[in-house]
Amino acid sequence: MRAWRGMRRAASSAFSSGNGAVPGGRPRRRAWETSLSPLERVRRLLPPEEAASVGRCAAAPQEMRTDGPQEMMEAAGPEAAGARPSPFRAGELALAEMWRKHNTTVKLMCRLAAGAVLASSGGLLPHRHIIGQLPGQLLRTSAGRQLLLRRPSLEEYVLLMPRGPTIAYPKDISAMLMMMDIHPGDTVLESGSGSGAMSLFLSRAVGPKGHVISYEIRDDHHNLAKKNYNHWRAAWKIGHMEEWPDNVEFILKDISTAAADMKSVTLDAVVLDMLNPQSALPVVHPRLKQGGVCAVYLANITQVIDLLDRIRTCKIPFLCERIIEVTHRNWLVLPAKIKNCKSSQAVEMQENSEEPPQKEYEEIHTQDQVVLKEREDYESLSDDAETYCSVPYVARPSYWQDAHSAFLTKLRKIRPLLS
Ligand SMILES: C[S@@+](CC[C@H](N)C(=O)[O-])C[C@H]1O[C@@H](n2cnc3c(N)ncnc32)[C@H](O)[C@@H]1O
Repeated sequence: MRAWRGMRRAASSAFSSGNGAVPGGRPRRRAWETSLSPLERVRRLLPPEEAASVGRCAAAPQEMRTDGPQEMMEAAGPEAAGARPSPFRAGELALAEMWRKHNTTVKLMCRLAAGAVLASSGGLLPHRHIIGQLPGQLLRTSAGRQLLLRRPSLEEYVLLMPRGPTIAYPKDISAMLMMMDIHPGDTVLESGSGSGAMSLFLSRAVGPKGHVISYEIRDDHHNLAKKNYNHWRAAWKIGHMEEWPDNVEFILKDISTAAADMKSVTLDAVVLDMLNPQSALPVVHPRLKQGGVCAVYLANITQVIDLLDRIRTCKIPFLCERIIEVTHRNWLVLPAKIKNCKSSQAVEMQENSEEPPQKEYEEIHTQDQVVLKEREDYESLSDDAETYCSVPYVARPSYWQDAHSAFLTKLRKIRPLLS
């Protein structure tokens, strides 16, 4: 917010600077010039001849591509052969992203089939228009709306796949993978499988030489986790023409009764995302390697207290190293839209602190009018690229921030002092 006010002050002083020269004769830079577009900033760092080529690229029209993937690969030249992007095929997953008001996006995931149609609030798009295209392609729906088509990342897949119980959120999963210091080839135990989100990330982290053992007490959750896992593997194989590792063993059983099954196993790490994780500690502790980490995912801090109290009263040799919450702060950074382009040199962005925080507006003062304009549909993906000039930016924390998801507790298995 302070930076925003600074920009605003700077913009105001630029207005009042008259002919743009300071008393010493040195031309004064207008304050809005310090708010350059990213491209402009890069250009100013380059030698003149390279800067000119960057300018040419930026000036090239951003047309909708009409040629096919093969032509595109040929145009990219032989040096692009290593990357070998592969076009969409029937049977794999595609993610369509549509820009909406207030700089939000809607994401739709589908499995491609030649005769099927993607139906969105922005119109229809037959799958056959997607099949054969390279991911990253913009296409138009029957209603003329732009959709960006690409393969879903694993994060997007787990957020969009069918859910039974709440999943562990990807932002928390990545922190837990780090906590447990998971490596390719590791053997990791998780409980419970739930919807299978954590299982998929563990599967990727331990790789084809690793092993994930996933316990689940409920058979509907066990089946869903397996289904989501297999669905992702099958789509991966079609889209990438290589196998996703088949390294997760889903076991339908109460973890607290599984001690006998695990006698011969040494675990590199354990992750517990279940009610009453303390009931699993006596089972997993003996199997976890000394110095290994058990990461526990709990929604409430009172549950963390119960967990630590059980460890203390039962003298389980776990050391609680950290309890963290993973918070992401979303920011909004956008070129401010100017309704009347002729006024572009006389633009001041202004923060309207009384604005209720439900909507995102662009607040722009032109010379003689205030334009408070709700941001239009972000069809301006390419419009913004066309506006090749220095513009002020809206840059502030977003009104929309993620809510609390969980507390992550890192327990290290230790060996008590020899008495
Ligand atoms: C919140 S979900 C786990 C979500 C999962 N981590 C994911 O990312 O999709 C908790 C799961 O733990 C399972 N569960 C609870 N107690 C259990 C136990 N004693 N043994 C095995 N699974 C258990 C529940 O049935 C539920 O499916």
